[in-house]
Amino acid sequence: MRSQDLLPLLVWVSAAVAVDVWGQCGGINYSGDTVCVAGTTCTVLNDYYYQCVPSTGTTTVSSATKSSASSSTTVKSSSSSTRASSSASASASQPAQTGFVKTSGTRFTLNGSPFTVVGSNAYWPALLGYNAADINQAFADIANSGATVTRTMGFNEVTSASGIYFHLWNGKTATVNTGANGLGAFGERSPFLAWPTADTRAQDTLVAAAKAHGIRLIVALTNNWSDFGGMDVYTNQLLGTGLPHDTFYTNPTTIAAYKSYIQAIVTRYLNEPTIMAWELANEPRCAGSTSVASATCNTTTITTWAADISSYIKSIDKNHLVAIGDEGFFNQPGSHDYDYVYQGSAGVDFAANMLISSLDFGTFHMYPDAWGHSGTGDVAWGQQWINDHAAVMNSTKKPVLMEEFGLTNSGTTRAGNYATWYSTVLSSGLTGDLVWQAGSNLANGGASPNDGYAIYPSDPVYAMIGQHAAAVKARG
Ligand SMILES: *[C@@H]1O[C@H](CO)[C@@H](O)[C@H](O)[C@H]1NC(C)=O
Ligand SMILES: *[C@@H]1O[C@H](CO)[C@@H](O)[C@H](O)[C@H]1NC(C)=O
Ligand SMILES: *[C@@H]1O[C@H](CO)[C@@H](O)[C@H](O)[C@H]1NC(C)=O
Ligand SMILES: *[C@@H]1O[C@H](CO)[C@@H](O)[C@H](O)[C@H]1NC(C)=O
Repeated sequence: MRSQDLLPLLVWVSAAVAVDVWGQCGGINYSGDTVCVAGTTCTVLNDYYYQCVPSTGTTTVSSATKSSASSSTTVKSSSSSTRASSSASASASQPAQTGFVKTSGTRFTLNGSPFTVVGSNAYWPALLGYNAADINQAFADIANSGATVTRTMGFNEVTSASGIYFHLWNGKTATVNTGANGLGAFGERSPFLAWPTADTRAQDTLVAAAKAHGIRLIVALTNNWSDFGGMDVYTNQLLGTGLPHDTFYTNPTTIAAYKSYIQAIVTRYLNEPTIMAWELANEPRCAGSTSVASATCNTTTITTWAADISSYIKSIDKNHLVAIGDEGFFNQPGSHDYDYVYQGSAGVDFAANMLISSLDFGTFHMYPDAWGHSGTGDVAWGQQWINDHAAVMNSTKKPVLMEEFGLTNSGTTRAGNYATWYSTVLSSGLTGDLVWQAGSNLANGGASPNDGYAIYPSDPVYAMIGQHAAAVKARG
């Protein structure tokens, strides 16, 4: 695997001074103390960050990690097999994660320490029928890239039951599927799942796999697009077909039905720290895949909806962060040579939405090619787009994530462009970023889906993610 060639062997030396509770005690390029104060245990959160966690209850590291932390000099290989097996043994005996991710100014925190958000999207692990071993492999690959966070999809609306589905509509009645082919594929009920298992899809899967590999999740709860159902399914089932897409945001019946789905999924994972944040929708806009926008839909429509839905989530879930999951379009009509993404015409006003008090952080996406900036100008256009959002981050003092970005050209050109954007993330002070999207070569399911953007472990970008995470962490 490529990462074996590129990542150096790691050496760390322990000293006499013990690290305080919640302090760092190991990780790639960490050179400080590796012994934790009494009553705490050095725990692997990810390759870059080991933390002294109170030993009470269920948090301990495997004996192999413990003995390496206390010996004077230890050489640890960062190969994928070492990483995967140490994660597996850690998860078999205890949950790898404690504490909920919070915000502090323009940054995220975990148990009082800075928490770096860098990683990738993966919509597919729970939705496409992969077995537990494959889902575990997906998160092993994501963790080995050095990612700390993955964004995924917590919805799958259907009108007839087949395959994997989360929310089944029969006329106007919707039922949440908590079975093995529903939220069982998404969430976790047993915190002590051992990996890899046989095909035990029935034992809730995606959250357990993320947890086993020290990855936090951002979960979107519905879709603008009709992929995996989305908003139009609510409107079509409850009110009839042919209505404008934005009916979903304003009609009391669709709003109540969406809150009912939110209530089911959010309360199920109320105490699950693996989930970092809920998102109101993937890429909400006035127009939908199969329906048009009404004449009255404007940015106020989605801002009003976002304030209502986010405060609803906060009223039932005090643990998790909430964001919109939008593309971060600006509402500055006439500006930027009438560049679409600055005109507010899609119904999104990034700066206005950042002021909603029940939203903890802002999001934006970046697809220069698909947004009319293909060719040699795409990289510079992207740098401007990143800087524009970092400026709003600074003025609103909330974190902002570039939570999707991508180019479909592959290989070294793409890697070079991403390197430029990664350095713009650093220079702009932007909180963090997630590439669209992770790819894996799965033992049972073959290659995960490639929409042209997927980053498999052999891609040069894969090797850059961990280095970028370390740089963002070092920047603070
Ligand atoms: C929502 O769906 C509409 C219709 O296909 C599409 O034009 C729009 O681009 C979609 N929005 C997003 C953000 O995907
Ligand atoms: C959106 O339209 C409504 C009227 O339908 C208006 O009150 C509101 O000011 C508009 N919002 C923006 C941002 O123009
Ligand atoms: C945001 O603030 C940071 C810290 O003051 C600064 O370094 C950075 O340049 C600012 N970013 C933008 C885009 O203004
Ligand atoms: C670790 O440090 C070395 C030497 O300073 C550097 O070349 C390497 O990029 C660092 N690795 C990461 C992942 O930051």
